[in-house]
This record gives sequence, C-alpha cells and structure tokens, in this order.
Amino acid sequence: MFENIDIEKVKEELRNHSKNYKENFAKIEKFIETEIQEILNLRKNNKPIIPEISINEIDQKKTKVIEDINKRGCVIIRDVFDDKFIENLNFQLEKYIDENNYFEDQKKKSDLDKYFSDLKSAKPQIYGLYWSKAQIEIRHSEKMAKVKKWLNNLWLYKNDEYEVFNPNKELSYADRVRRREPGDNTLGLSPHCDAGSIERWTDSFYQKIYKKIFADNFEKFDPFDAKYRDKTKEFESPAVAHVFRTFQGWTALTEQGPGDGTLQLIPISKGIAYVLTRALLDDVPKNELCGSKLGRALSVNSEYHSLLLKGLVSIPKMKPGDTVWWHPDVIHAVEDKHSGRNYSNVVYVGATPYCKKNIDYTIKQSEKFLEGKSPPDFAPEDYEINYKGRIKQGDLSLLAKKQLALEDWN
Ligand SMILES: [Fe+2]
Repeated sequence: MFENIDIEKVKEELRNHSKNYKENFAKIEKFIETEIQEILNLRKNNKPIIPEISINEIDQKKTKVIEDINKRGCVIIRDVFDDKFIENLNFQLEKYIDENNYFEDQKKKSDLDKYFSDLKSAKPQIYGLYWSKAQIEIRHSEKMAKVKKWLNNLWLYKNDEYEVFNPNKELSYADRVRRREPGDNTLGLSPHCDAGSIERWTDSFYQKIYKKIFADNFEKFDPFDAKYRDKTKEFESPAVAHVFRTFQGWTALTEQGPGDGTLQLIPISKGIAYVLTRALLDDVPKNELCGSKLGRALSVNSEYHSLLLKGLVSIPKMKPGDTVWWHPDVIHAVEDKHSGRNYSNVVYVGATPYCKKNIDYTIKQSEKFLEGKSPPDFAPEDYEINYKGRIKQGDLSLLAKKQLALEDWN
C-alpha cells in the first residue's frame, strides 16, 4: 500500500496549510527547546519530572497534577495494587511460562513478529502471552477500572459534532508481558511512538487532529482533544494497535528503577508537533518522513530529532503494583541495558474507553480470547491455546466480561 502513497504530494499539501512551513517549524522548535530546558533543569536538580499521584488521591481534585499531565503527557499512578498481591501474581506468571514450556515454542515462532525489527536495538524480552491469570487479574480488576476511568476523564471526549467515547465504560485491550533478566543488554527499544507511523501525516483524520500544528496554530493544539482520534485508519501490519488508547501503560510486577532496563519517556505532550513539522523541511528526502516507515513504529532518531532526544528520561523507581501511563503521541523507549539485580517485569495495560472503534476491535478480540489465541493486533503466535492455567470465560468476573464485550455494558 505504501507504494500507492505519494509522500512528496502529501508533504506539499501539508506545507500549504501554513503561510511558511519553515517559520512554523521554527516556532515549534522554540517551544520544544523551552520544554527540553525545563526537563534538563529539573533533572539537574533531582526534581521529579513525570507527574505522580497515588490511587488513594485520585478522587480528590488535584488540579496541579492534572495540569502537569496535560503538559507532560504522562503520569505515574502509584499503589494501584498491594505489593504482596503483585508478588504472588508475578510468581504465578513465571510458573505459567515454565509449566507450559513457553521458551521452546517461542524459538519456533519468533520470526512472526516483525513490528520492532526496524528499531535500532533488538527485540525486547516481550512475551506473546495475553490470557494468564496474572494479566487477567490486573487488567480486569476494579482498581484498574477506576484508574482507567480517571485517565479517560482527563480527555475532552465530547465536541460540537459527537461524543467520541464514554469515559466511564472501559473496554480492555489484551497486551503482552515484559520480563527482563538482570544483566540483559541486548533487548532495548529505541525511541518511538505507537498508534501509527506514516499515518500521522497521510491519514485524513490524523490530518484533522493535527491541523492546528500544520496551520500555524500550534499554540491552540490540544493533545487531549479526542475529536477524530477514534476515526484514524492504520495500515495493516502485525502489532500495530487498531484501537484508540487514551493512554498506553503498564503495571510493574517487580521493583525497577532507572538503569534496570525500564521505560524512558520524552515527557512533552506536544512533542509530536516537532516530529510532524520536521519532516516537511527541505533537507528530508522528498519521499521520506524522517525515517518513519509503513507498518513500523514511528521513528524518532538522532539524524532528525536530536533536540527532542535530549528530553528522554528514565521513569523513576517503580514498586510492584505501581503503574505508568503515557499519551499515544508521547515518544518512549526502553533502556538498552538492564544493569539492575532483579527481573524487571511488567504487564502492559492501556486505557481503551468505550467507542465504536474499540468495541469493533474488542468483539474480534473476544473471539480470540475464547479460543486462547493471540489478539487480532498481534502476531498470530497463538502460544496459549493448550496452556494449562489459561483463563477461560467461566473464570471471568462480570466486569471482565463487559470489558471483553462478552456481556453488554448496559
Ligand atoms: Fe511503544
């Protein structure tokens, strides 16, 4: 499909949204420079950069934290689960992997997942497992539903044309597990964005979402306005998300901090504006978008985005049961080296509110769940079909069934 897209033409059209695309980029660059400087100053003074809140505080009106999330595009929500509860689930997950001989299967099937193959670092230790007890208990818990509801409500979900989603009804997006061994130095992920790579320039709805950025009105661009976020179309490719996530995220299964092979973020909610407008400059080859390729993660690299990369920070220490969340436009990476002493394990859980796009996906996903297969967005490795201990429909709570579209929400 990529062959049919005339990148040169798309860029020309986008340039024409602006009176002067170079000046528009220069203005955005200036804004980013200020944000980067702030991040560097905070880092120098050992001050927190990524907003934080405890689950026990989210019912209170915390205006400052919300302002910070709007600016930084990310948040750590602590103490969502008790340490002991999570330690037990981590142990059970390990047992699930061992008892079902995951590693033997994995060797045979590892070629199926091509999504990350173009990022400079090699594939991280991500397991193609979705339906273990540990994942289900975290993903479908009441506490997680509360957190996700709160996160969804940070968005502007109604506009003059329609209601984009219902923030109080959650669907759930089955995702994988990361387990990183201490000492591992081969399995990082270089900086990227999910939820579309070249689509962010070429898709007509992404063009509407980002219109203000291209049309000299960057100041008015609101990354948390959900209008049309549910309407974008992704090119078909394994491991490209076909849902709208208000936030991507994960839950820590083990304690992990900077240096332990953990997540890094560029905590600037409008950082994408730099990537988008940078690609229109004249030094980028005509048919290219600063290294972004079809069906791969959006690339953020030192050749074109060195300014942004200065703002890449490791998230602070996470305890078991803490969660981290980032906006779908926020650039993120996984540290190349795990220099810590313990496994650095996480369960990925994003926030997918109730909207047509997400319900359509969830229905397809539920068919896979019933058969124990990999969800539609992921490589069809289907490890778990015959796994002992896999969660079946009868094991699910009513909430879980609603979130998996196996029961109506109403
Ligand atoms: Fe990612």
